[in-house]
Amino acid sequence: MITILNGRAVGYDDVGTGVPVLFLHGFPHNRSLWSPQLGALAAPARTMSMDLRGFGDSVAAGPGSVDGYADDAAALLDELGIDRAVICGLSMGGYSALAFWRRHRNRVRALVLCDTRATADSEEGRQARLAMQAMARERGSIAVANQMITGMVGRTTREKNPELVDELHRMMSLAPVQGIVDALDALRTRPDATPSLTSIDVPTLIVVGDEDVLTPVKDSRAMQLAIADSRLEVIAGAGHVSNMERPAAFNHVLSEFLVSLTAQ
Ligand code: MLT
Repeated sequence: MITILNGRAVGYDDVGTGVPVLFLHGFPHNRSLWSPQLGALAAPARTMSMDLRGFGDSVAAGPGSVDGYADDAAALLDELGIDRAVICGLSMGGYSALAFWRRHRNRVRALVLCDTRATADSEEGRQARLAMQAMARERGSIAVANQMITGMVGRTTREKNPELVDELHRMMSLAPVQGIVDALDALRTRPDATPSLTSIDVPTLIVVGDEDVLTPVKDSRAMQLAIADSRLEVIAGAGHVSNMERPAAFNHVLSEFLVSLTAQ
């Protein structure tokens, strides 16, 4: 579906009834990243995914920032008449979920932080973002997809599920160049969220693939240590997009978490 928020088109899906869960995708994905979760959880859930600005059906609105992504997510909740939701973000979506906590914490029922980290980019990382922007402008999204695809999935997926690798590569190749350039600004300029982790007082599920090389398990462990009411689930045989690589295992831990919320 497409709606207009603050004068801009935003693509989203909204499936099921129950505890509202808003899914935020990573870079350079779109909301189809969450197809294995939408309407597929064992727990009663209203599952919603949105295209972050500049991706999928959502128009760009640069310059990019994780705060902008978080504010768009809050505007979508307003539009759908939802007061509080579970905010579930993967990688860049996780950075945006942490920004959502900083800016809209009274709207957060719980957090799910998948294959992500709290820390900001290193100086070397920031330079790499600028180099990727130049590459995207000169050679298009496909060059970005080619560079990122190997780290995007785990070794097990590369060896056993080439169809999934192709599907992800296609998703990333379709990302508009402007969305990529703006997102690289958002990634490069995002603040260190570590100081705000101790303020998180809602139940938090942290999920990571044991073969994730972009945001490795140690980053998730660091977040788990800092967030009081948190649990860590490590998905075996999955890399950076654990929700797509091991959907049954991912959906199981997410469903269990959602059921534990409704039992509280
Ligand atoms: C993502 O999947 O969103 C990116 O890998 C995040 C990053 O590059 O920091």
